[in-house]
This record gives sequence, structure tokens and C-alpha cells, in this order.
Amino acid sequence: MRRIRKALITAAGRGTRQFPATRTLQKEMLPVVDRDGITKPALQLLVEEAVESGVEQVGIVVNPESEAVIRAYFGALTPEEARWENDKHWLYQQAEYLQHLGERVVTIVQQEPLGLGHAVYLAREFVGEEPFVMYLGDHVLLSHTEKRCTEQVLEIYARTGGTLSAVRRTPEERVPLYGTLSGEPLAEMPHVLQVTAMREKPTIEEARAHLRVPTLPEGTYYCFFGINLFPPQLFECLERMIAEGRRMRGEFQLTTAQQMLMEQGNYYACEVMGEALDIGIPQGYLEAQVALGLAGTYGGDLRQWVRGRGGRSG
Ligand code: G1P
Repeated sequence: MRRIRKALITAAGRGTRQFPATRTLQKEMLPVVDRDGITKPALQLLVEEAVESGVEQVGIVVNPESEAVIRAYFGALTPEEARWENDKHWLYQQAEYLQHLGERVVTIVQQEPLGLGHAVYLAREFVGEEPFVMYLGDHVLLSHTEKRCTEQVLEIYARTGGTLSAVRRTPEERVPLYGTLSGEPLAEMPHVLQVTAMREKPTIEEARAHLRVPTLPEGTYYCFFGINLFPPQLFECLERMIAEGRRMRGEFQLTTAQQMLMEQGNYYACEVMGEALDIGIPQGYLEAQVALGLAGTYGGDLRQWVRGRGGRSG
């Protein structure tokens, strides 16, 4: 099995569901207070997730408006930051860690909003001929074990190879927001599915008709978690999809190319012991902050503060 050396994060979407915050701020740069008590853009959490899981290079697909901000964020220390060492040690440490992450980051510009599939296709040269891990940039990942979500997925991938998508259990009413899949449990690894069907943002009726997973409770489906391990063959599928002009709702969807990979076989899905919180929608952003808060440095104080508010609603 080839080691995963590269990660791709897509952060080029327009973020309309988070308007007006996203008017001047790229959705993935929305700040959260992380478990370590430090306020960071959500994108940094994903770069940390990749680098701390052993990835050597991280490609971030950006749009022309956000490129400068994202590059500057992961860029070299400014002369002022470099002077902080003596008097503001804590700030210097943070800036230095950012630089450590930033040295692994490259940006790839998507000039036009042509969809997630198109954004990923632009990374073909960056990825080259090797398997890679791809993250949905607007997700905050929170592991429930001592292993990061990515590490959990990599462990399963070491046994399955092929394509592996992490999935999460999702209630029926949220299925129309997400890519959804179903499949058959593997005899030798019952917690892993061989994927047999996949749809991008299905209606509830479509999900009921085509995407039921017998091992899941009624009304629950598997939607993408936001971590995929793709073989380089994904780019051939994306190329074909783009050449044939296969758009959905005007955009080139990643799910279309994933379906093409699935038809070639060896497409697996696994659950992760953790949560993926979608900061692209207000409720998910709020949940992400609460979950990070409760899981981190301020968890005890936060719980107490919430309890102290009792039943107060305002
Ligand atoms: C994208 C993907 C979809 C995935 C979702 C997660 O949609 O197309 O398959 O489930 O991200 O947020 P978007 O949210 O960009 O519309």
C-alpha cells in the first residue's frame, strides 16, 4: 500500500449559505476556538489534521478573491512577528507553528466557480500519480478517540486500498444537503461497506428507494464525512466528466466522478469514531463551536456556564 503523502482541501466555494459573514471572508476562514483554546480559522484545523496525520504536502484550492488572504495566513513570518520572540513568546510560538504548517501548503486557484469536481480536477498536477486524501474544506473534524479521524481512515485504507470514503450517519431530513451512498458490508470487515450506490444530494424519496443500508436504522443514511482517500484514477474520471460536459445544477460535481470510480469496483466506505461538523451552514457552525468548546481547554468552565444559565433562553 502506498503511503499517503498529499492532501487536498477545497476552499473555493462561495459560501452563500453563510452570507453575509462570507461577503468578505472565505467560509473556510471563519474562526473557531479550537480545543487547545486558541482561536483559528477552521481551515487551519484541517491543515493540522493532515500534517499531524503524516501528510507532507497540502494543496488548497482557493478562489481568486480568497487566494491572497489564505496565502498570507500560511505565509512566512512578517518582520514584526519575527521580532516577537523575546517579549511575546506565546505569539511567536503560534506564528512559528503556522509557518511549520505553511511550509507544507500550496494554493491552487479555481478561477470560476464551476463546482467541487472541477476544483478537485485542478489539483491533478499537484497530486500526480499517487493516492491522496481529500477534505471538504468547510468541515470541522472532531475525533472521539485518541486517534485523529484521518488516522482512523488511513488504518482501514491500509487493508482495503482502492477508494475509501469516510461516512457519517445522517438523519433523513438532512440527506438532501449531502452526497449519500449505500453498499454491502464486507464479510471480512463488517464495519466497512463495498459501495454499490451513490447520489449527490438525493431527495428523501430517492434515498428511500435507492440508498437504504440494511444495517442502519430506518430513516438513517450514510452521507460523506468529508474525508476521502482517492486513487489518481479519479482525475481520469473528472477529465471525462468535464469533457462530456456532465454538470448537475450547473456545476461539475465530485460525486459524478466518484460514481464513475465506483463503477470500476474497489470503492469502500467506513464510519469514523468522531464527528464532522459542517460550518457551511449556520447550525453546523454553531454546533462545531459548541463541540470544540466542550471538548477542549474551556470545556469544564463552559459546561458550568451553561448550567448556570439554567432554563434561561435569552
Ligand atoms: C459538497 C458535496 C457533497 C457533500 C457536501 C458536504 O456539497 O458536493 O457531496 O456531502 O459538500 O458539505 P456543498 O456543501 O458544497 O454543496
